Formats: sequence, structure tokens, C-alpha cells
Amino acid sequence: MKIEFVAADATAGKTAAVAVLAFEKGKLTGAAADADKATGGALARAIAGGRFTGAPGQSLDIIAPNGVDAARVLIVGAGAVDKLSERALETAGAQAYQAVKLSGADKLVLRLPGVTPALAVHAGFGAALAAYRFDRYRTREKADKKPSVARLQIAVDDPKAAAKAFKPLATLAEAIIYARDLVSEPANILYPEEYARRVKKLERLGLVVEILGEKEMKKLGMGALIGVGQGSVRESQLAVIQWKGAKNPDAQPIAFVGKGVCFDTGGISIKGADGMEEMITDMGGSAAVAGLMYALASRKAKVNAVGILGLVENMPDGNAQRPGDVVTTMSGQTVEVINTDAEGRLVLADAVWYCQNRFKPKFIVDLATLTGAIVVSLGKDLAGLFSNNDVLADNLLAASKATGEALWRMPLPPQYDKHLDSGVADMKNIGPRYGGSITAALFIQRFVNNVPWAHLDIASTAWKPGSTIPTIPSGATGFGVQLLDRLVTDFYEG
Ligand code: BES
Ligand code: MN
Ligand code: ZN
Repeated sequence: MKIEFVAADATAGKTAAVAVLAFEKGKLTGAAADADKATGGALARAIAGGRFTGAPGQSLDIIAPNGVDAARVLIVGAGAVDKLSERALETAGAQAYQAVKLSGADKLVLRLPGVTPALAVHAGFGAALAAYRFDRYRTREKADKKPSVARLQIAVDDPKAAAKAFKPLATLAEAIIYARDLVSEPANILYPEEYARRVKKLERLGLVVEILGEKEMKKLGMGALIGVGQGSVRESQLAVIQWKGAKNPDAQPIAFVGKGVCFDTGGISIKGADGMEEMITDMGGSAAVAGLMYALASRKAKVNAVGILGLVENMPDGNAQRPGDVVTTMSGQTVEVINTDAEGRLVLADAVWYCQNRFKPKFIVDLATLTGAIVVSLGKDLAGLFSNNDVLADNLLAASKATGEALWRMPLPPQYDKHLDSGVADMKNIGPRYGGSITAALFIQRFVNNVPWAHLDIASTAWKPGSTIPTIPSGATGFGVQLLDRLVTDFYEG
């Protein structure tokens, strides 16, 4: 969708939808009051006759009213009038698009007179996220299921200033959409080598991307990562992405590591058939890291950052890893693989070790669709945050609050660590059934040496089929990109 900023009095036209804001409990003000007047009170009558309260996420569609040059007028809830926030405008922009996208209108004009450029641009950001769809593989679609709205015009007092202020948000939306596309791609298309090729193309943004194959990883001793991929005909890869935006190119970087299991069958400990197709999203952590690197490079963030993606496919062929196998990790520690479906932590063990060993970063944040148990613990709207460092954890929680990508801090109880002890190796790859996300995090922690570290278990939030959040169309969320970009902006740049 094309998004542009136009003058407050720009005309709409008879094939357009016009959207105006209304606030909780309040009278109609600004553009809404104007539209109400022009239509002889149609907006006030529609509100009086229904359940619309002005809460964020609500909208009310008035079709072909007299007195306006538009096919419909949409009233969009914006919440409390004295608390018009970035988030409220994101939701309003997204909801406006969602409400009219299939209406037949070719253009949506969102009228925001009196709203500052800095706030108004968030409506554009919300709408850009709302308009995401993954339609690459549709060769036909019923005409009435295809979005009709191809243009969004946001009408403001100072369109020039708004257009300028929108640029960074437009690239952030692009980065989120980049991550969503990676997550949405099926595993026959996006296998580790293809993923690596796509990430390599990010060099056009000024990133430096190295790809390690199995030969290099074997040489480094990454027996855990290699073991996960050995049952697949696809070669495992490690992508190492660097952004050097700090004044001093040798300044200590911050680091992000992502689980990139392009498909997780479970391996020999194979999963049930029901819903297994969802395991195309088991690279969501790595997609968030790739999206973040995209965002940092696009906006030339003043920071040195490293992103590492552990890319494998977990398959059960004749060469596959068996339950009971013992692998040696790059750290030298050995692992008894009790369950080949607990593969993400094996990938992360080597990727995290490699990261801290090579880059000696200020901190490491890893992201992974790691456990079904986190969905049981927190439900589908919160990701689990585990950390050995309160400052890093608090910074992540602050970024979470600012962006709405919700985290909930989980414990790393030392007394549970022993549940990972093995009779034959230094550790096994699973603990008891209960507290499964915690023992998974404790497993990764065994590969973290004295560096501030946080682990985000995003198995709960990476994928939202049937999402009802206006900024998140059903499917891939891109969870983590916004959160981490904000973390960097607010705490680690300069
Ligand atoms: N990729 C899964 C976790 C997952 C579950 C992601 C649901 C997204 C949605 C992970 O590799 C896995 O299989 N975890 C096992 C661990 C168990 C074997 C200890 C799980 O959660 O069941
Ligand atoms: Mn698994
Ligand atoms: Zn997995």
C-alpha cells in the first residue's frame, strides 16, 4: 500500500473512504465534528444508535452519507482524548485500514487535523503493518477477497513535516515485513542455504554478511548444531551479520542470536501430524534478528551490532541423530540428546558460544521459538524473558512497554539446573516435563560465560493465526524486531 501525507483539506472523491477519529465518551471534535456537520449529524446519529464507544480498535462505518465527497465515512476509536498516544494512533491507522480494506474503496483518507506530525506518522506505521499479506503463492483469488484499498492518504496540517518524520517508521515497517516474509515462507522454499542467500543480499544496506557451511562449523567443533541438521538433505548454515555504525568501528558490539530451524519435524522423536505445518515458523527467532539488522542498517544506527542465525532443518532420515546420541559442543561440553525434538537449544548452544567467543559482546540477546511450554505458561500474547542480568532485563522490559511487544520475565532458578545432569555426558538436552521453558533456558545458560544475556522464548508470539490485533494480520507477527530496535535506540546508541 502506498502511504502519503496530504493537506488537511485534501479532497477524497467518490471511490474513497474517509476516516476520522472519535474519542471515548467525548463529543465529536476536529475532522469528526466537520464530517458530522457536513452530513447533517449522521455521525452523531450512528454513534447514538450503536455500541461504538470510541475505544481503540473500534470503528463504525457510515455508508454513502449525504454531504461528503466519499463512498463512506469511517469513525475510528482513538481512546481517551487527553491520552492520544503513538500506540493509539497505530491502532487507529491499522483499524481504519482493516475496516475498509475489502469495501471496494480504492483509497483511504485518514483525516488528522490538529494532530502533530510526530504522532500522525504512527497512524501510517500502524496501517503499513496492517496491510501486510503474504500472497506470493496465490495464483487466483476471488475478487471480493482481495484488498481494494491501494492508497492511504493521511491528511494533516503539515504534510511535509509528517512525510519526513514518517521515513524512519516506514523503514522499521519494512524491516518487520522482511521478518514476517521469512517466517511465512514454506520450508521447501526457505531452507538454510536459501535463507543464507537472502540474508547475504542485505549487504546492499551496508551490512557485512558471512555464511559458514557445515565444513567450517565442523572445524569449529559445533557438534550440537551439526547434529540437529544431519538428518536433512539440506546443508546447515550459520549466518553472521555485522553492522558497524558506531564512531569507533572496533567498539564492543551488542549481539543477537536467533534460532533458525527452517522446519522442525521433531526428528526421530517425531511430532504428531496435527499442526506440524506450523513448524515452518520455527525460524522466527532468527527472522527477528535478521529484521533487526535490516532496521539498524536502514536507519544507520550509531552502534556496532552482530546478528547470528543458526540455520538448520530438523528431519528424520537414515542419517538423523538418534535419542541417546552424545554430541560435543563448540564449548567442549558434551550433551546426551534424549529428545531430538529439543533441537533449538542445541543450535543455540553452539551459536551463542560462537558469538561470545568471537565478538566478546556487551550483551547477548537470543530469540527462539523454543518451547511449547512457554505457550502453556504465558498464553499467546506474551513472550518469556529469561536473563542473568537485571539491567538488561529491565531495558528489555522498558522497550517492551514502549512498543507493545509484550514480555514477561521468567525465573532461572539455580535449583532446577541439576535436572539437566546426565548419566553419560555433561548434560542432557531436556529436563522433566514440568517447567519446560525454564529448563530450556537453563540449558542455554550453560553456554553463557560471564556476559549479560537474555533469552526470549517467542514460541508464543511469533505466529498468530486468526489474529484480531489490527496491526497484526493473521500469521507471521515479526515479533521482536520493533522491541529490539527500540532497545537499541533507547539504551545502546550514541
Ligand atoms: N519448535 C518447538 C517449540 C514450539 C512449539 C514452537 C510450538 C512453536 C510452537 C521446539 O523445538 C520443541 O519441539 N520443543 C519441545 C521440547 C520438548 C521436546 C522438551 C516442546 O516444546 O514440546
Ligand atoms: Mn523441536
Ligand atoms: Zn523447534
